[in-house]
Amino acid sequence: MVNPPASKSEHPEYGPFAIDAGRQRVMRTSTGGFRPTEDAHIRDSALCGTCHTLKTRALGPGGKDIGSLPEQMPYPEWLHSDYPNRSSCQSCHMPEIHGQVPITAVLGVPREGAHQHTFVAANFFMLRMLNSYRKDLSVSALPTEMTAASEKAVAFLQSQSARVSISSVELVSERLQVQVLVENLSGHKMPTAYPSRRAWLHVVVRDAHDHAVFESGALHADGSIEGNDNDADPAQFEPHYREITAADQVQIYESVLKDGDGHVTTGLLSAVGYLKDNRLLPTGFKKETAEPDIAVVGDAAEDPNFTDAGSLVRYSVSTGNAQGPFHVEVELWYQPIGFRWAHNLGPYKAEEPQRFVGYYDSMGSATAVLLARADAKQ
Ligand code: HEC
Ligand code: HEC
Repeated sequence: MVNPPASKSEHPEYGPFAIDAGRQRVMRTSTGGFRPTEDAHIRDSALCGTCHTLKTRALGPGGKDIGSLPEQMPYPEWLHSDYPNRSSCQSCHMPEIHGQVPITAVLGVPREGAHQHTFVAANFFMLRMLNSYRKDLSVSALPTEMTAASEKAVAFLQSQSARVSISSVELVSERLQVQVLVENLSGHKMPTAYPSRRAWLHVVVRDAHDHAVFESGALHADGSIEGNDNDADPAQFEPHYREITAADQVQIYESVLKDGDGHVTTGLLSAVGYLKDNRLLPTGFKKETAEPDIAVVGDAAEDPNFTDAGSLVRYSVSTGNAQGPFHVEVELWYQPIGFRWAHNLGPYKAEEPQRFVGYYDSMGSATAVLLARADAKQ
C-alpha cells in the first residue's frame, strides 16, 4: 500500500537504510518535505505483491460485469512455493551490489548490501522493438543503452529461468523413446505474470547421416511455432502433452485465456479464466493445494509427471528405415509476446495496432530466445 502523506511538508519516503538527521534535513529542504525513512517493508516480497497481483474485470454485452481473470499472480505463486524460505523477489530481480557504494550523489555514505534497481526480467523483445523503431517511437535512450538492457534480460532468462535435460533415450523396435525433463529455476511459475509469454520445447532427432527424422516445435521466421494449433487458428490451442508422437504436436508451457462463452481469447477485458495453464511450477508448489487463482488448468493438472520437480515429457518417434546412432537435440525457447497475441490485433483498423503487428512481423525470429538445451546419442 502507498500511504498518502500526513501533510505536504511531512512525506516519508522509504528505504532499507537508516539516514541521519542532517541528511534527512538536506533532503526535506531541497524537495519540500520528503523525509528519507528507514523501513524494513522495502525488503519484503509482499511489497512487490501489492502491485504484481493483478485481476482484470471482464465486461459482457451492455457493459455487464461477467467475471474476472487472475491476470498476473507472481506473488501468490511465490507464496505457494518454497521460495519464501529461500529467496525474496528482490534477491532475483534487484541484484545485490557486492562491496560498498554510496547510494546518493549528495553526501552519500558508502553502504554495504545495496541492491540495483534494475528489475531485470523477461521482456527483451519490447526493448528490441523500441530500439529497432527508435525514430518512429521517439526513443531517446541511446541504441547502446537499449541493446545493453535487452541483453541483460536475455542473460537473466538464460541463466535463471529454466533447465532442460534428457533423462533417458531408448531404441525399442524402430521407435526412439526420449524422456525430457524441464525444470523451473525461477521463484514463481515460468513464464509468470503477463499471459502473452510462452516457453516451448523444440526437439530434433537426426540419423547417422545427420538427416532429421523427426522435428517438433520449430520457430518459424514469422514468430509462430510449427504445429501449434493456436498460431494457425485463433479458435484452437495446443493441449498439454504427456507424450509426443507426431511432428504436429508441440509442448508449450503457457496460459490460454477463455472468454465468457468458453472460447479462446487474448482479450484481457473479455477473459474470465483459463482453458490451459501448464506453466512450469516453482519448487515447493503443490498443484493439488493451489488456490483457484494460481491453479494448473487442463491435462497438466492430472499429469503425474507435471509437478514442482519439473515437467517430464516423453517423445516417441518412429525411426523407420533410418540408420542410427540417433542424435537427439532438445531446446527450450521463450517468447515474451506469442504470435497469436500480436496477430489478434491485426483486424483492428487503427494506426497503433497496425504498426505494432507490422513491427512484430518484421522482427520475426528476434521475438524469441533459446533458454536452455541438451543433447544425447543413441
Ligand atoms: C507501485 C507498483 C509496483 C511495485 C510496488 C512494484 N512494481 Fe514491478 N512493475 C510495476 C509496473 C507498473 C511494471 C511495468 C512497467 C512497464 O514495463 O510498463 C513493473 C515491472 C516489473 C518487472 C518487469 C520488467 C520487465 O522486464 O518487463 C519486474 C521484474 C518487476 N516489476 C519486479 C518488481 C519487484 C521485484 C518488486 C518489489 C521489489 C516490484 N516490481 C514492485 C509496478 C510495481
Ligand atoms: C529465484 C529467482 C526469482 C524469484 C525469487 C522471483 N523471480 Fe520473478 N522472475 C524470475 C525469472 C527467472 C523470470 C523470467 C522467467 C519467468 O517468467 O519466470 C521472472 C519473471 C518475473 C516477472 C515477469 C516479467 C516479464 O517481463 O514477463 C515478474 C512480474 C516477476 N518475475 C515478479 C516477481 C515477484 C513479484 C517476485 C516475488 C513474489 C518474484 N518475481 C520472485 C526470477 C525470480
